[in-house]
Amino acid sequence: MGASILVTGGAGYVGSHVVAELVAGGNRVVVFDNLQQGHAQAVVDGAQLIAGDLADRYAVRSLFAGNKFDSVMHFAANSLVGESMKFPFRYLRDNVSNAINLIEAAVEFDVKKFVFSSTCAIFGNPERVPIDEGVSIDPGNPYGESKYLIERVLRWAEEVYGMKYAALRYFNAAGAHPTIAIGEDHNPETHLIPIALRAAAKQRSHLEIFGDDYPTPDGTCIRDYIHVCDLADAHIRVLQALETRSCQYNVGTGHGYSVREVIDAVNRVAGVDIPVRTAPRRPGDPAVLVAASDKIKADLGWNPQFSNIDTIVETAWSWARSHPDGFLVAAAAE
Ligand code: UFG
Repeated sequence: MGASILVTGGAGYVGSHVVAELVAGGNRVVVFDNLQQGHAQAVVDGAQLIAGDLADRYAVRSLFAGNKFDSVMHFAANSLVGESMKFPFRYLRDNVSNAINLIEAAVEFDVKKFVFSSTCAIFGNPERVPIDEGVSIDPGNPYGESKYLIERVLRWAEEVYGMKYAALRYFNAAGAHPTIAIGEDHNPETHLIPIALRAAAKQRSHLEIFGDDYPTPDGTCIRDYIHVCDLADAHIRVLQALETRSCQYNVGTGHGYSVREVIDAVNRVAGVDIPVRTAPRRPGDPAVLVAASDKIKADLGWNPQFSNIDTIVETAWSWARSHPDGFLVAAAAE
């Protein structure tokens, strides 16, 4: 018999892929999502979806009062670096206070295992790359800062109440599920790969490269793209570790690709040559973010299976072609 797990933001991009794995593993899953960014259709059959907002403390409390959970996975958050530089309080206040509402209710109802979706944005412009877990934390934008503040809240929940927590610091989640019809669908879409694929499908006229004067070999930013199913696998594995200890892991592949290399992969996979224009840098973007993933590999036996750039782009391209307007058209067609 599996465990009973609350997944906030389980209708969102990363959350929905983790929910699919949890359900496949025989767990009882309750998704709590305000459906602002999430999609009800992204929640696989077998999981229960409750529409609600973490800002509503009473709704959060009654969620715990009505269900016995073994653990919590917390994905729900505002999560755009660029937006956080325009609206910092949406991140510093909303992300943090919503997480506190959730953590406080978990403590009250004696749920002692908590998996948190953190980010490599907590490292800002890192002092060394690849980024291991010992690199100094100095967030370069309010989004990263909000995630780090939540890590600190969890650290105190451990100290005072004995909660065990895992902070998984994602690098760039990308790709789509290879066998289930779920994938990336943000509104507005700001991420590189789905935007490039829209240009490939001629849903956009071109792609803008945000800055080509970074101190990198081709002048464009380098990121560590991690397939969303590999990311999901890390969540499943870390639950076991939480039986005995809290932990923090950087979750990436150890390989970085520049914006131009990602565009090359899209052109290769889709058989196109998407039009690109150079645009100014996007505020808050560090030049290079690549993970050192030795610790999670050694501790959890985690090993990414889908994360070479062509597999990432192939699965994302397959999703984009079958769902040109994301979940909207799929819902209308069903
Ligand atoms: N980029 C472009 N043109 C675009 C979109 C993006 O050049 O149209 C560039 C960005 O400037 C950046 C890279 O492509 O250099 C990747 O950008 P994304 O927006 O796809 O991803 P980010 O790196 O900004 O952010 C993502 C997640 C965050 C997470 C971060 C960690 O959205 O939640 O990865 O790097 F914190």
